[in-house]
Amino acid sequence: MVIAAGRVVPQAEARTALTFPPSFTWGTATAAYQIEGAATLDGRTPSIWDTYSRTPGKVRNGDTGDVATDHYHRWREDVAIMADLGVGAYRFSLAWPRIQPTGRGPSVQKGLDFYRRLTDELLEKNIQPVATLYHWDLPQELENAGGWAERDSAERFAEYAALAAEALGDRVPTWITLNEPWCSAFLGYASGVHAPGRTDPVAALRAAHHLNLGHGKAVQALRAHLPADAQVSVTLNIHHVRPFSDEERDVDAARRIDALANRVFTGPMLEGAYPEDLLRDTASLTDWSFVKDGDTKEIRQRLDFLGVNYYTPTLVSGGASAASHGSDGHGNSAHSPWPGADDVAFHLPPGSTTAMGWAVDPTGLHDLLLRLKGDFPQLPLVITENGAAFDDYVNPEGEVNDPDRIAYLEGHLAAVHRAIEAGVDVRGYFLWSLLDNFEWGYGYSKRFGAVYVDYPTGKRIPKASARWYADVARTGVLPVTETTAG
Ligand code: FCB
Repeated sequence: MVIAAGRVVPQAEARTALTFPPSFTWGTATAAYQIEGAATLDGRTPSIWDTYSRTPGKVRNGDTGDVATDHYHRWREDVAIMADLGVGAYRFSLAWPRIQPTGRGPSVQKGLDFYRRLTDELLEKNIQPVATLYHWDLPQELENAGGWAERDSAERFAEYAALAAEALGDRVPTWITLNEPWCSAFLGYASGVHAPGRTDPVAALRAAHHLNLGHGKAVQALRAHLPADAQVSVTLNIHHVRPFSDEERDVDAARRIDALANRVFTGPMLEGAYPEDLLRDTASLTDWSFVKDGDTKEIRQRLDFLGVNYYTPTLVSGGASAASHGSDGHGNSAHSPWPGADDVAFHLPPGSTTAMGWAVDPTGLHDLLLRLKGDFPQLPLVITENGAAFDDYVNPEGEVNDPDRIAYLEGHLAAVHRAIEAGVDVRGYFLWSLLDNFEWGYGYSKRFGAVYVDYPTGKRIPKASARWYADVARTGVLPVTETTAG
């Protein structure tokens, strides 16, 4: 407000600008099953997500990834959109069932050629390719053989990693083994809201271990086939878990969920051991004898950075009855994705929510980055996903205005900036997502894109947030209100 001649004149809130380091990477992210379509073309066979989405009642509206955004045919247009946005990097995933359809044996040329064309085009436009090997599309034949609950899956994954690195290592400088293994293990095998839809808590713990082992073996396979300067990492959806109160039972609930969500992966991957408290908390379910001698040594591999996905914090209390459970933000199921933690209740954190019903709270991202710096001081961090779904629509002028998404991104990027100022080594940020896409169990009902997709025609319409993000990415300067700047 300003006072002019005795009158109070409302004025837009004061603005300021936050400048990111010149070397900071600005990118966007997608995943194969969510955008590619072309489910049966060029030798691709079903993955667990094809099977799951074709099972009645599993995915909202019966949606599948059969066509998705048809990126398999429209990739050139999508790269052109990224070039217009001026982003410096693109994180996408390789579809295992396109490259090695049954999860065994030789690679398929046509599948690899798709990624060769895509990466050539990216490089041509000065966009750095960042390839994720596994964003949840396990070849169905491997699930038929027991999936991630079985040890052989780790061997299979390493073999596939070697094939991918051999074929694409000359043009992809940055590799991520797994995307969010927590979702693969616990949503896929315990709560069943993700493929393969199993509801067996012990299978979920076994899956977590075999994903860890697969990661360790894949890092070795990648390093054996990639140039020495290649960057290798993993992406975790580290949950920022907060206790509901200072009461001991709430603090203990937060510790237990932190173990099941985060330390089950960071323990072996970064510290070479499963946390003692995790083994104790789950002792009534399993003795963890599926962890063999030498496994944790193999899982702990040097990483060039840690990929972090963040959307919302997690708020928990202890000592609850199952009936008092709210949603943990990971879909609805009668089965918990948290083995051995049935008395932990989940609460909606305060504040506004996105179309996913997730609380908007950038302080969670800030605090999470500081925590990671405290726990792993030497490890550079990259935000490999952050973004929000809102109920976007095309207005009569043919535009999509999404001020809520811009506010979300502004708040979260300001939080990243604050963390950098506080000394955290954050090297880049990838907006989830480039395009509206198949949002897993929610089908096409949730729009996360900076670019709107009109599914019946496939038409792409950059939203207001895409233009906003393009300015930030081009200049490295984030315009914010004084309040957001903090
Ligand atoms: C993450 C997934 C990504 C997308 C976003 C919204 O858990 O990695 O594929 O679904 O959530």
